[in-house]
Amino acid sequence: MVREATLEDAHAIQNLICFYSEDGKMLFRTLQEIEQSVADFLVYEMNDEIVGICSLKFGWDRLVEIRSLGVDPRYQRQGIATQMIQGSVERALLRDDCDTAFVLTYAVPLFTRFGFEVVDKMQLPQKVWNDCKACLHEENCDETAMSLSLLPLKKLPLAKPTALKDPEEVLYS
Ligand SMILES: CC(C)(COP(=O)(O)OP(=O)(O)OC[C@H]1O[C@@H](n2cnc3c(N)ncnc32)[C@H](O)[C@@H]1OP(=O)(O)O)[C@@H](O)C(=O)NCCC(=O)NCCS
Repeated sequence: MVREATLEDAHAIQNLICFYSEDGKMLFRTLQEIEQSVADFLVYEMNDEIVGICSLKFGWDRLVEIRSLGVDPRYQRQGIATQMIQGSVERALLRDDCDTAFVLTYAVPLFTRFGFEVVDKMQLPQKVWNDCKACLHEENCDETAMSLSLLPLKKLPLAKPTALKDPEEVLYS
């Protein structure tokens, strides 16, 4: 089940972030940073355990970044990240202060299913790169930038992303 994170989830969130930051798949965050921004996180809870995390960073002009997406290796390829992206896009659609979602990712097909398209990293505002100073890869970023315009979706009163197993199917209805 995808749900909004609470302060009690902070340690579990940090465990997953630490695990994936060791090989540079995710930016390291201190426990304090996570506690301060816990409202930005969604978690996937299964049998009272947090097995997936994802956060939304608003405030990049009218962009929102989907970041810190990670799923416990024991539970991958079961659609958990798909559900977390769906929850994130739904959350972003409720906001008035963003028009476009973006992500820097190693899992392009995962986001393509939701209509994200590959964009030139240089199109992203310069301040996005401040975070990159803390990344192991820094100047040699090997992630792909992808973005999704939220505007057409916001105009549809019943617009909701629908995570589907078949990538050929229409993803929004
Ligand atoms: C990337 C990650 C979040 C995917 O989580 P997941 O729950 O396994 O993803 P899903 O089960 O929802 O995957 C759905 C589809 O996305 C694609 N996909 C999933 N993981 C992928 C990956 N690592 N690379 C490329 N495509 C991927 C596949 O098409 C998959 O469909 P399939 O299982 O039918 O082949 C997970 O592998 C992870 O935590 N990786 C390490 C952290 C990381 O790289 N985070 C950055 C992501 S922005």
